[in-house]
Amino acid sequence: MTEAVTITRDGNIAVVTVDNPPVNALSFHVREPLLAALETLGGDASVAAIVLGCAGRTFVAGADITEFGKPMRKPELRDIIAVLETIQKPTVAAIHGTALGGGLELTLGCHFRVADVNARLGLPEVKLGLLPGGGGTIRLPRLVGPEMALKAIVSGTPMAAPEALSVGLVDAVFDGDLLSNAIGFARRKAAEGGSLVAVRDRSERIANADLARFDAEAAELARKARGLEAPLACAQSVRNAITLPFDEALAEERALFAKLVSGDQSRAQRHLFFAEREAAKVAGIGKEVKPRPIARIGIVGAGTMGGGIAMAFVNGAIPVTLLEMNREALDRGLAMIDKNYSISVARGSLTESAKAKRMAGLTATINYADLADCDLVIEAVFEDMSVKKEVFGKLDAVLKPDAILATNTSYLDVNEIAASVARPENLLGLHFFSPANVMKLLEIVRGEQTAPEVLATALALAKTIGKIPVVVGVCHGFVGNRMLSARSRDAEALLIEGALPEQIDKVFTDFGWPMGPFQMYDLAGLDIGWRNRKARGETAAIADALCEQGRFGQKSGKGFYLYEGGSRIPLPDPHVRTLIEAISAEREIERRPISAAEIIERTLYPMINEGTKILEEGIAARASDIDIVWVNGYGFPVGKGGPMFWAELEGFGKIVERLEHWHEQTAKDVFKPSRLLRRAAETGKLPANI
Ligand code: 3HC
Ligand code: NAI
Repeated sequence: MTEAVTITRDGNIAVVTVDNPPVNALSFHVREPLLAALETLGGDASVAAIVLGCAGRTFVAGADITEFGKPMRKPELRDIIAVLETIQKPTVAAIHGTALGGGLELTLGCHFRVADVNARLGLPEVKLGLLPGGGGTIRLPRLVGPEMALKAIVSGTPMAAPEALSVGLVDAVFDGDLLSNAIGFARRKAAEGGSLVAVRDRSERIANADLARFDAEAAELARKARGLEAPLACAQSVRNAITLPFDEALAEERALFAKLVSGDQSRAQRHLFFAEREAAKVAGIGKEVKPRPIARIGIVGAGTMGGGIAMAFVNGAIPVTLLEMNREALDRGLAMIDKNYSISVARGSLTESAKAKRMAGLTATINYADLADCDLVIEAVFEDMSVKKEVFGKLDAVLKPDAILATNTSYLDVNEIAASVARPENLLGLHFFSPANVMKLLEIVRGEQTAPEVLATALALAKTIGKIPVVVGVCHGFVGNRMLSARSRDAEALLIEGALPEQIDKVFTDFGWPMGPFQMYDLAGLDIGWRNRKARGETAAIADALCEQGRFGQKSGKGFYLYEGGSRIPLPDPHVRTLIEAISAEREIERRPISAAEIIERTLYPMINEGTKILEEGIAARASDIDIVWVNGYGFPVGKGGPMFWAELEGFGKIVERLEHWHEQTAKDVFKPSRLLRRAAETGKLPANI
């Protein structure tokens, strides 16, 4: 046997162990010896039962994703499962860590599954734009019923072992030494000598399936898929498990898998899987750079962001001291946090006792001295440089010397803030996204002087609270907001030349965004931009006119759209149309039809252009980091892999050509292609070294 698969014996029980760090993926060098081991043991009369388990931190976490998109080398997973299913002695999968994707499918080839109490089991292929291709959609319904299987496969969310036991996915859960318990289990099954029925031959859970109810649930899931093919293929395949004979359903699953794995959506989602892991790797921050221990977080400002950030930390069991400028503001902030948790309790996603525990993790104060024991303090006060500097001055005075200072600023110069404190090496930006307790993205802004250890601490902290960190450099708006601003720069001109907000937004939702730019402005509140423009002496004819009429967006029931009776559903408003048409007339612009292609060219192409400038300037280390920012912070459709991945599919040559066209037409800088974009147009790819 090779090192990746070993066989050991405990009396007449054979134990097959897969050892392929880090996650025991089913790479070719595992599949080949695993098949051989099972064939040998199946025919070995001295073996009464077989236990299949894994070394290291987890059971098999899936197929080897790096092998997708290349010709699959034999034996494939399904060949191994087919052999497992012919074995005439008890086969027992011993699951610890995570049994995911092909890993769980492998266990479905066994007669029995036993799990460690902390194990998690799931079929997350949908998150990679795939469906389980190793029989998961056909076998799982036979164990847990089609509706439960549909939910598990379309969501891709893993199940905890106790739940898996209660729904019939596993046969026993053990707290303690899994391997010896699994061996004991196998020995009992061998001694019982009962009949062994392969999962493929169990039909009782699918025989009486309510197809009408299944179809209704599948239709609801399809509605939510927003242009993604994989969830629909998952639902179709689970349906096949009910309506087709086993082998036919399996062949259909295979065909659906082959189609998805070679498609752009799955390529995009696989790109994002690896991009997310790459983003956590930062030049100069190796394993030798140790993060500082963080036992307590301080937060200054309990407004929209401060409150959300506080929740993000107490949710991750890190205690927080929350500081406001006065009692009233503090009480308001605490009341908002309490209300948010109460909504979760009412929805059933949080228990009263969990809420009480989280609220108990919060300490509220108006005295800076109470922050003295904090290891890291995040400032989330008004977006105003002088206010921020004043806050940091006070923090600098009370905090211990190695405590870290962080700003949640959206746009301000982190280096300027750092220059105002005595410990610039201990300062960085931690840019959370709203709502901060929900949104996964965290832009970690590295200042010129930020120490590697401070950066390592921020990266580790992000992981602890379940955020996806991307390290970015200092510039106006960092990666996300800077590109957002490029996306918006020509949007008003589109309206004045002939488009309407609902038309532009529809182009965005058809593209796969959860909402278009005008729905987003209404959600965020038009007054914020209006105030900023006034402060900078800038104007935006349409948005300014709306604000002058008290139309601030959703919060005032009207903005670019109308929101009737407190609803969040945006209704096109004839009044807004009249207003836009009046501005066109006033500027003597003859309105003309604006195509969907033009809308994309004048919003998304400038955004891509800005992304390449961000790369040229070294503000983002890699194009894939930009993709992670946009998918996790702004709702860029996952099936398109983020803006930079999508740009390559769209064609850099085409993007440059159309940007040049719009630059000629408008003379706006935002359309002037960057040097890097021109280079990418020559080869069709962004260069590896920028
Ligand atoms: N194939 C190849 N590499 C994988 C992998 C896989 N299935 N799963 C993880 N890795 C790699 C990661 O890229 C990472 O590599 P790096 O260190 O070089 O960056 C390394 O393993 C460790 O992964 P994580 O950093 O994600 O480790 P965590 O401990 O945080 O998480 C995990 C572990 C929960 C297993 C997580 O890695 C995960 O969710 N993996 C993917 C699971 C999955 O999607 N399985 C289904 C695959 S598709 C399939 O099985 C098709 C089948 O139906 C035919
Ligand atoms: P907010 O107005 O909701 O909250 C700011 C809070 O800071 C208020 O409660 C205020 O009382 C408090 N505050 C002001 N000065 C203070 C002081 N000197 N000491 C203590 N508390 C003080 O503002 P919001 O939206 O939470 O924004 C905060 C920061 O986060 C800003 O820098 C903003 O740019 C940034 N940000 C905002 C996002 C958003 O979507 N709202 C997203 C990401 C970052």
